[in-house]
Amino acid sequence: MATVYFDEATRRFSKEDAPAVDGITLDIADGEFLVLVGPSGCGKSTTLRMLAGLEPVDGGRILVDGHDQKGVRPRDRDIAMVFQSYALYPNMSAAQNMAFALDNAKVSRSETRQRVAEAAKILELEPLLDRKPGQMSGGQRQRVAMGRAIVRNPKVFCMDEPLSNLDAKLRVSTRSQIAGLQRRLGITTVYVTHDQVEAMTMGHRVAVLRDGKLQQVDTPERLYDHPVNTFVAAFIGSPAITLVESDVREGVARVHGVSVPLDRSVAGRAGEKVVVGLRPESWHVVETPARSGAGDSGTTALALNVELVESLGSESFVYGRPVGADDDADRVTVRLDKRTHLAVGDTVHVEPNRGEVHLFDAASGERIEA
Ligand SMILES: Nc1ncnc2c1ncn2[C@@H]1O[C@H](COP(=O)(O)OP(=O)(O)OP(=O)(O)O)[C@@H](O)[C@H]1O
Ligand SMILES: [Mg+2]
Repeated sequence: MATVYFDEATRRFSKEDAPAVDGITLDIADGEFLVLVGPSGCGKSTTLRMLAGLEPVDGGRILVDGHDQKGVRPRDRDIAMVFQSYALYPNMSAAQNMAFALDNAKVSRSETRQRVAEAAKILELEPLLDRKPGQMSGGQRQRVAMGRAIVRNPKVFCMDEPLSNLDAKLRVSTRSQIAGLQRRLGITTVYVTHDQVEAMTMGHRVAVLRDGKLQQVDTPERLYDHPVNTFVAAFIGSPAITLVESDVREGVARVHGVSVPLDRSVAGRAGEKVVVGLRPESWHVVETPARSGAGDSGTTALALNVELVESLGSESFVYGRPVGADDDADRVTVRLDKRTHLAVGDTVHVEPNRGEVHLFDAASGERIEA
């Protein structure tokens, strides 16, 4: 059990390049499941490797339980790492793989046997203990890799995309197994993924990284409801939020010619350029759109030319481009309940739901709070 504190931690691979990890400050509570998420190359693995001692810290500090880890060797850190590749020894059985670190640490035979048995029970690996990695499925190997981390009873788990080699269905079940296991063991966990669904479903809090810089650390709900900038807004949520640049006039922002009423405090920013963000579920279909003529401040429906329909059974997503807009206009994504009879080429009229508009400054991308 441990707290982890990144204090402006920085990693710079070369003098010429921007830092791979750029002054990250992150306070992780004892027992917390923190997910690091962001696009490829944003510095997730490097951040994790710095914590595990596999990568030096060029600026700032990393504290575990209040102790600066500078100079502490990886093997003395009491941090167990689970990699994407599992990194199992191919010629050892599942049981031997799990026991390996304990043998090295001179843990007694009986203690080792007991810890491996416990881990095997938790992970439902008991029937597979004598198998070698080559005789196991991807999901089973992944559980052995988890078992190897668990038997060490470490202060901190570091997991770097441990599910990315699993097929979609197995990922979903393993994701909840890992989250449940972490809850039961209560071991502070830093989990890296580039999959925002994994991040949102597993983490107590999620830290979003971009180009080595921390954008936002929050609960999944806060990230979704209050993204601090357009990057986080676009990264979290699937299908993605629709972002449209617009200017504020007479208390409304215009989205492809449709007037979106704004909160009074924001409406005061007349003449400013803003980015309006609307999530797929923040629209509703209007069957018989009112004729325009209510003036600029009246909300008229947006006519969309349907370009793609995704029916997922329980819900549908309609992707369309505003009628009359040029080809490079952003597509608008609309979520519909259940089935839809809409097809490619149809026109559908939609209106934004009141009070569900996200607003960002067009120049900085920062959120404008209503
Ligand atoms: N050993 C290295 N030498 C030089 N540059 C490196 C090294 N390792 C990583 N980098 C660079 O640091 C940046 C961050 O890499 P990192 O592996 O942390 O990204 P990531 O977020 O884990 O990406 P992915 O999702 O693709 O795994 C990248 O620009 C990468 O090219
Ligand atoms: Mg990585």
